Amino acid sequence: MSAVLQGKRILLGISGGIASYKSAILARRLIDAGCEVRVVMTQGAQAFITPLTMQALTGNPVHTDLLDPAAEAAMGHIELARWADCVLIAPASANVMARLSNGMADDLLTTLCLATEAPIAIAPAMNRLMWSNPATQDNLNRLMSRGVRVIGPGAGEQACGEVGEGRMTEPEQIRDALASVWTKVSDTLNGKSVVITAGPTEESIDPVRFISNRSSGKMGFAIAEAAQQMGAQVTLIAGPVALDTPANVQRTNVRTADEMLAATLKAIEHCDIFISVAAVADYRVANIAQEKIKKNDDKLNLELVRNPDILKTIAALDNRPYCVGFAAETQELEKHAQGKLRAKNLDMIAANQVGDKDNPVFGSDTNSLTVFWGKQKEHIKPAVKSAVARRLLELIAQDLH
Ligand code: PMT
Repeated sequence: MSAVLQGKRILLGISGGIASYKSAILARRLIDAGCEVRVVMTQGAQAFITPLTMQALTGNPVHTDLLDPAAEAAMGHIELARWADCVLIAPASANVMARLSNGMADDLLTTLCLATEAPIAIAPAMNRLMWSNPATQDNLNRLMSRGVRVIGPGAGEQACGEVGEGRMTEPEQIRDALASVWTKVSDTLNGKSVVITAGPTEESIDPVRFISNRSSGKMGFAIAEAAQQMGAQVTLIAGPVALDTPANVQRTNVRTADEMLAATLKAIEHCDIFISVAAVADYRVANIAQEKIKKNDDKLNLELVRNPDILKTIAALDNRPYCVGFAAETQELEKHAQGKLRAKNLDMIAANQVGDKDNPVFGSDTNSLTVFWGKQKEHIKPAVKSAVARRLLELIAQDLH
């Protein structure tokens, strides 16, 4: 648990949704971490959890009305907005995100968000289709572009019985992610928009089998987290991995190389830096079997066709961003990396010696890189992936400036 939360004044906004009950646990976790918590509830929230519960947990009266003379006399809404070191809305419903993104002030919570100078963080929670709806995604982008930090949502089984993205992040993770509001590492990438691909892709053979590789996504996720902490607005396009989304990073999940290309092309507009960390499957099966393939013969031949090269495609765009590639090699590291730098017309390449018994890199928590750009070269010594990520981003920022 981070010590930076000690003494912080958190205005916890609760909007309507089944995840509201988790806000009670969240309030407790924040208080345990040393925060002072005051609660604002929307009308919708009060249908799921009572103000009395939140009052008993926080030891402070709960604020529910904008136009309540008694509440205004005690601590008016402007005073409350000034009091907060951070406004955290958890859960943030689709409705509250829409109202915030439109700058509305039609209840106490949205009014406070307009009236505060404190950072605002939201932990969205809603049905998966509501989350993926373009209207919600537009609202999300607008909020992020204004500096609103976004925690989650996670994927999994939902209260409505569906399975997908939209579950509120667990209270302990929200508490830990909130600490990043005060732990910005630097302003090195302030104002920059960064798109990162990470993890493997999966290429179907039949309904139950696929071709993939050992990438865990850890390196790409570490770069996404570090870029966000250096001030960038980060979009992370992730293959199938079992990792939580870093705080305040916008994530799109994909499965195949084709899906990754489509998501990258969509995200790349107005992007300053593209970092291609994903281990994209070079080939896919030419004809995916509609039914499970039976093992009738001793041999099975699969015809494979080349997948699109995502990095090369982006680097060939007219209005291309600064393009960084990775090269995972088991031999002749420098020769192969330099070859890819030229062949894909990149600004920089990070070469990875992989497959060592001591550190296979794929799946491990540490890495080391040899980075090539222009006529320059730097070896980033073995370290945890977060430290390697920070150094790589410093090199990118230096070259970009
Ligand atoms: O995910 P981890 O377990 O943390 O492991 C990290 C990693 C080893 C996967 C990562 O550090 C790494 O090296 N990623 C690149 C993997 C790779 O095999 O690259 P490549 O040599 O096949 O491709 C060169 C570059 O082109 C890469 O930037 C790759 O993302 C990109 N590429 C490749 C093929 C393709 N069809 N499209 C691409 O964009």
